[in-house]
This record gives sequence, structure tokens and C-alpha cells, in this order.
Amino acid sequence: MCGIVGYVGSKNAQDFLISGLKRLEYRGYDSAGIVTLNDKGVPTLLKAKGKITGLESKVAQNKRPDSIGIGHTRWATHGEPSEKNAHPHKAGKLYIVHNGIIENYKELKAKLESSHKFISETDTEVLAALINHFYLDGLYPLSNAVVQALKLVHGTYGIAVISELNPTEIVVARSGSPLVIGIGHGETLIASDASALIGHTKKAVYLNDGEVATISKDSVEIKTLNSQPVSAKVETIQTDLAAIQKGGYDHFLLKEIMEQPTSLTETLRGRVNLKERLVHLGGPNLSDKELKNIRHLIIVGCGTAYHAGMLASYYIEQFTTDLTVDPVMASEYRYRHANVPDHSVALIVSQSGETADTLACLRELKAQGVKTIGIVNAIGSTIAREVDGGTYIHVGPEISVASTKAFTSQAVAMIMFGLTIAQAKGIKPSILAPYVEDIAILPDEIAKLLKTVPKAIEILAKNYKDYDHAIYLGRDVSYPAAMEGALKLKEISYIDANAYPTGELKHGPLALVDDRFFELVLLPEDSLYDKSISGVQEVLARGGHIIVVTNSLKFSLPVENVVKITTKLKLLTPILMNLISQLFAYYITTAKGLNVDQPRNLAKSVTVE
Ligand code: AGP
Repeated sequence: MCGIVGYVGSKNAQDFLISGLKRLEYRGYDSAGIVTLNDKGVPTLLKAKGKITGLESKVAQNKRPDSIGIGHTRWATHGEPSEKNAHPHKAGKLYIVHNGIIENYKELKAKLESSHKFISETDTEVLAALINHFYLDGLYPLSNAVVQALKLVHGTYGIAVISELNPTEIVVARSGSPLVIGIGHGETLIASDASALIGHTKKAVYLNDGEVATISKDSVEIKTLNSQPVSAKVETIQTDLAAIQKGGYDHFLLKEIMEQPTSLTETLRGRVNLKERLVHLGGPNLSDKELKNIRHLIIVGCGTAYHAGMLASYYIEQFTTDLTVDPVMASEYRYRHANVPDHSVALIVSQSGETADTLACLRELKAQGVKTIGIVNAIGSTIAREVDGGTYIHVGPEISVASTKAFTSQAVAMIMFGLTIAQAKGIKPSILAPYVEDIAILPDEIAKLLKTVPKAIEILAKNYKDYDHAIYLGRDVSYPAAMEGALKLKEISYIDANAYPTGELKHGPLALVDDRFFELVLLPEDSLYDKSISGVQEVLARGGHIIVVTNSLKFSLPVENVVKITTKLKLLTPILMNLISQLFAYYITTAKGLNVDQPRNLAKSVTVE
């Protein structure tokens, strides 16, 4: 869950390392460090606790014209955030940066204590000492020493290693954590993801699991851990600089919320035939016969991706008759002894395409012969490359840790996948058409909402910023939308927000209602409207501080606040309402003066278990 970078070329390595780490800071930001070597191998190792800015000022006082180096921004797993535990870690004459977890580091450490004096609590320093054990101070080519060491390692890694004895090359390797190599003119760059390479090169090689590469300023040599040569597959980086900048907004989160009319339009591009009321997804790689025979759909994801899967499952069950849909939390599902029925297909949902728990479920389901379909945003990510087929949601880089535009597009993409199955099963077009119509107008409905409500939500949010607890409520499809709203609030404002199905209130959560809590209710004008109203009345009767989000013209209960929205949507209203929850969480967090894009204790891509 860290970010690593590397540079070898003729330009100033310190400059690239710092700018690259800033681009990757959303992956982890509790400490950072870089090391560069001059052409004689003399090192300049700089580390700092906290955000990159701290390291940047250290670099400003220690400018070096070095043209090779590696760097790291950390999300601590082993050893608290501190300068001592920050990467790069040193062993003998070599330095390492690492993204991932070495699970058997304790056993390895015990064997290395006689030859290496450990100064940090990290698993990474153990890997450095192990590589150095084989490196024997240069007796052995660095890449071979790395290979020998990695053969003894259990766990996940994306690493970069350099040695004072050979300041012209960097050795990198990956297993479970992403790593991309940027091919430049007379320079080669590495990073945990392509966003650090933008503006430097468009040519990238995505390293696969089990591959080790030795890079110099004008060469990239890749081999497997069994020393089999691998030819480098050069791909073009799709994203541009603008896509990864704030575009005039104060925070990436607000930019990504406000981008949803266009990001969702990109998700729908070429996939919705409004004239025929049909959808078409090219990527899943399933024949009509295979689609027709699907009886069981498992939807795997974590956090927001799981909520999107849950929301989509409600809709898919509405327009199919012989299909069971099972949204599962990847971190639980990977160890559950779930019996996967025949005719199952799995949707693997991930914005980053690198989430370890989701990836593990993908591999487990593939091993059981289940067809896996990715619903992914990050192009070229591990999950995107390992699924049997898939659909990119094309929302562009999502940099804020709290996921927003990806949720909306993931949910819609999965509903479209469900419609694809239903079309193949011959479900009556009259049943499916209303979903296609709603999907087609959703980008405009979102644009209309974002033109009208932000100011009002900003004012509303200020009235609720001092609460420590909140209850989010929704029935049917609005329940997963409420779960997503609660997650947004808790992960960036640190308010303890939890969601419950409105009908569940009287079975326990209603006991919570008092002045410490406010309640936010998603109340679309749908077949369960009246049932939901009784839930609101139950809370009202206990003196609840209730905010109701509704598109119903008949709503009149004397709750504390009502957010009225108007929309032409008939079915997908909860997806639209979720934007209110996104804005509400954003404005409460800014009102509290908290770090919106990099909330404490979290990171954007969870590549460790
Ligand atoms: C959402 O705001 C969080 N950042 C987190 O729950 C996230 O959704 C989860 O880690 C899954 O990430 P993924 O979509 O990249 O797999």
C-alpha cells in the first residue's frame, strides 16, 4: 500500500523521485525517503516522517546532481511510522524500497542477525539483509542475488534495489504488488503506477508477477525467477497530466464528484443502444450461450466496490428470474468455504485493480474453474490482466482515497452486465427497457443535480459537523446506497456513521437514537415509499435529528432537514441520491478542516492483506 519510484538516466534523479512520490502519495503518506548515487556510487540517503513535503525540504538542503536513485512513500505495516522505519533500507552496499508484506520475515531475520545489524522493525530491512547475504558485496550480480533472495520469500512485493558498487543499474521485481517501467529517451523510470510517469514518457512495460528486471538508462532486461528471459511488452500510457491534477477544485474528492457526468458518460460510451433499448458490453468474453446459462452471479469486492456490487445485485435480481446474485466481501469470502454452484460466473470489482483481498478471490475462483469478469478502472492493473474478461469503467484516475466516481460507474457497469445476461436469456424487452432508459439519462440527471445542490449541501453539512455519530437508512436498493454514504462519511470525517436497512431499525438500532446521533434517510419515491415513511416516523417519535433525501413531492413529515431532488429517473434514483451523500461527507470534512484527500490510517490501493 506504499508507492515506489526509481530513476536512471542523465537528468536529476532527486527531482523525478520527489515529483513521482508526490503523484503516488495517495498510496501511503506516513513517511518517505529516497537514496541517490553519484557516478562513483557515493550515496545520499534522505528520509522523513510524514508527508512528502517534509522529505522535499530535506532534499532542498541536500541537492545532488545524481542521475540514479530510488524512492518510497509509506503506509506502515511493520513498525510504526518513523524515520527509522522509512524506506529505503540499507544492507551492506545496497538499498531497497518495497511495497508489500514479507510474511516469513521473522524466520528469515533470525537467520540473518549474525551477519546484519538491524536498525528498523520492518520486514523490508530483512529482505535487504537477505539480498545482501547473497550479494556478498558484489561477488554476485545484483539481479541474481535478488532472485536468490526472492526464492526464499513468502508474501507480496514490488521492489527496487540499487548498489553503491554499480551506480548504473536498478533491479526491480514484483509479486502481488504493481510495478511499471517507463521507457524514456536515454532514461528509464519505475513506479508503482503509471501516474508517476506521466509527462516523462508514454511508453510503459507492466511487470508481471514473478518477473525480475534489470534496468539501466537505455536498457530493460526482464527474466523470471527461474531465469527464463521475458520479452518486454511496451504499452502506451492512456492518461494525461490534466487527468491527475485538481482542475481548479480545492480537492481531488470534489473534482471527482463533479466529474461524474463525464466519467459516467465514458463508462457508457459505445455500450448503450437507446434506440433498441439494449446494452452491449464487448469485454466480458462470454458467448450468448454462456450468458444464457449463468445461474449464479458472485460479485466480489472490498469497501466501496463491495457496496457497488451489492447495489447492482438488487437491480439485477429485479429483471432476471433464474439468476441468484451474491455480493460478497472479498476479505471474508477468500477464507469462507463457500460452495460455488455450477453455472456460476464471478464479477471481480476493483477501482485500483490491485486490492489484495479481491485479487486473492479472483485467483481462488479461477482455480475452481469459475469464469471471472473484471469491473475495473485502472488500465493494465493486475486484476484487469488476470480476469478471463472484463469491462473497464473508464472514469480516469481516481486520486482521492475516498472513492466516488468509481462507485457510480461500477454500479452502472454491473447493472449493464446484468442486462446483458437478461438479454441473452430472452427477458422481455419491456422489462429491461426502463433500466436502459434510466442508464442513458443518468449522466444528465447527475449534471443537473450537481448544478443545483452543492451550495445547499455545504450549508446543511455545517449544521452536522460536530456530531460524533450518525445512522444512515435505506430500504431495498437504497440500503447499499446508505451503506456507501455512511462509509464516505466515516472514512473522511471520522464521524462514526453506520447504515441499516430501515426495516431493521426496530430490531435494535432504534435504541441508539438520541442527541449524540443524526440520521440520514434515503427515501426515493418507489414501491416501498410508505414502508420507509414508517421507519422515519419511528425515529421521529424518539426525537431523531433527521435529514431526509427524497424526490417525493408528497413528503411532509416534520423532520429536521429535507433535501428535495427532482429527477426524471424512475429506477436508478438511489444512485443519484448517493451524490448527495458524497457532497455531504465532503462538506462536513472541509468544515472540520480535515485532510479530505488523504484521510488518516487509509490509503487508496490496499495491496496487502
Ligand atoms: C473507498 O472509498 C475506499 N477507498 C475503499 O473502501 C475502497 O473502495 C476499497 O479499498 C476497494 O478498493 P478497489 O476498488 O481499488 O479495489
